[in-house]
Amino acid sequence: MVFIAPSILSADFVNLERDIRTIEEAGADWLHIDVMDGHFVPNLTIGPPVLRRIKEIATQPLDVHLMIEEPGKWVDDYIDAGADRLTFHIEAENHADRVVHNIQSRGVSAGVSLNPATNPESLTYLLPIVDQVLVMSVNPGFGGQSFIGSQLCKIESIAKKLKEIGRSEVEIVVDGGVNTKNAAMIVDAGASVLVSGSAIFKSESWRETIQQLKTI
Ligand code: DX5
Ligand code: ZN
Repeated sequence: MVFIAPSILSADFVNLERDIRTIEEAGADWLHIDVMDGHFVPNLTIGPPVLRRIKEIATQPLDVHLMIEEPGKWVDDYIDAGADRLTFHIEAENHADRVVHNIQSRGVSAGVSLNPATNPESLTYLLPIVDQVLVMSVNPGFGGQSFIGSQLCKIESIAKKLKEIGRSEVEIVVDGGVNTKNAAMIVDAGASVLVSGSAIFKSESWRETIQQLKTI
């Protein structure tokens, strides 16, 4: 069973409440919230005050993806604002082990993310402790980009390592360019959660697209 986490980056920000309620009714398992700081990635999105308001109306878990420099300085703010799952980029943090423990000590699931060019070997000492790994299958910063095929091998290698260390329960989240055409091979490679923004929000029927992604 694969989980679907629509990325609200592709929602209508003027009608965010409407879109969140509609996407939840359409079958979203988690809501994926992309946080960008204009430094780690060339785009700016939402901060803690907006997340706090989303938390007031959302019924599904908030999966917050920090694409920011020095994420360790910000984890408490995003947890206070309502993150249920909090993922940060290992390229942006010198003390990833400490940040994972800090997130978990607040009762929140901790995830680490890798850019497409980052070697999965860098996860060796994190796989025994994290709750999820988010594989970026586009260069982060924008919705609507094409899936980078080379990331399939990375997903496979992370799934294999998790199996070897007896931690297959760790979620493998794949984010970027996921659609109904490529979802099957991504799940075959080992993904347990599919993040999808434009493929869902730009489709005619959000419900049908989510159902198609789920039953793949
Ligand atoms: C990209 C974000 C993604 C993005 C996915 O930096 O992390 O979550 O919103 O959007 P699509 O599915 O359109 O690639
Ligand atoms: Zn994301």
